[in-house]
Amino acid sequence: MIEMKPIRVLICDDDPGDRLLIKRMLMSYDDMEFVTVEAGTESEIREALEHEEIDQILLDMEMPGKSGLEWLLEIHRKEIAPVIVISGVEDDEVIYETINRGASDYIHKNNLYTFTLVSAIANSMHKWRLGKSVSRNSYKFKIYQVLRLVLKEQIDNHRKVLARLRVNGINYINNSNITGGYEMFQQHFENTIYTISEILEPKDSFTFEHQRRVKQLAGAIAREMKLPREQVFTIEMASLVHDIGKISVPLEVLNKSGRLTEEEFDQVKNHPRIGNEILMMLESPWPISEIVMQHHERIDGSGYPKGLTENEINVGSKIIAVADVVEAMSSDRSYRNAFPIPVALDEIDKNKGTLYDIQVADICRRMFLKKNFRFE
Ligand SMILES: [Fe+2]
Repeated sequence: MIEMKPIRVLICDDDPGDRLLIKRMLMSYDDMEFVTVEAGTESEIREALEHEEIDQILLDMEMPGKSGLEWLLEIHRKEIAPVIVISGVEDDEVIYETINRGASDYIHKNNLYTFTLVSAIANSMHKWRLGKSVSRNSYKFKIYQVLRLVLKEQIDNHRKVLARLRVNGINYINNSNITGGYEMFQQHFENTIYTISEILEPKDSFTFEHQRRVKQLAGAIAREMKLPREQVFTIEMASLVHDIGKISVPLEVLNKSGRLTEEEFDQVKNHPRIGNEILMMLESPWPISEIVMQHHERIDGSGYPKGLTENEINVGSKIIAVADVVEAMSSDRSYRNAFPIPVALDEIDKNKGTLYDIQVADICRRMFLKKNFRFE
């Protein structure tokens, strides 16, 4: 059992009302424990920086005495903690200057909401940790917790929109009733999927880019197979989030260059199940969670998590399986360089009929060799 430590946030703002507002936002998250330290004057900030253990600093720009910009410079130089600037100043030059001096984000006070703040903290802590050579374990687990929280927020938001559509009499499941309702739902769903896929970016930009490119290839294969439009949409959406379950796999394991231990491999193998669980929470008429669950199944039954065989696997998963391997092999990873596309295609060819669906494998080859498909 991993012990979750609270995230310690230093709020530097001379306005007690603003400090209270920020503190309340952080405290309103039941699932996540934040501990706040408040500092309103130069000496209080100095005291907190020297004596408190801080994970994240929220810094106002306009304070008496030493200015926000000067503090930013000092905190950045001493590498104390990541800084998010929260300010009422709406001047592009000031924003540019703060980022230039090391702030990880800039939030205008008019845009300060709980969700904006929590996701900014998640991103900021992540980027900061990635920029460090030392991995800090307790820190790492805090990040997972925050990312899960951001994900939960997205799913809650999605459900609220569904409830609103229902109130308006729109039956999105059966594609009936008020004209345009279905399209509206589809558009909303697509936005939600894009946002969810982006959640991985600060943690693991490789996976984020990978999912985007798998969507391009899987969508192209599905169209070439002349699958119905709705099914192509489903496969593209599933591609964009097929590795979302990796949110639960430690970064060190994802990027490990050597052999994984059995325990580490089990963690990796769990990602389709976790992805499925996350996506099940998004009600939709499309089998996206099922496709994600099956994207590591192989037609001879050697895949995971269930060891399904040819006829049991969704065609969307068969397409993503091929696109996944081709994209992964033809991209650089932190631990190896990319292979040329022909090498990736040969790998698919060699294993078609055992691991990969023959028709999908052949169409994938044709996309590159005859249809001039290229990843963007
Ligand atoms: Fe995967």
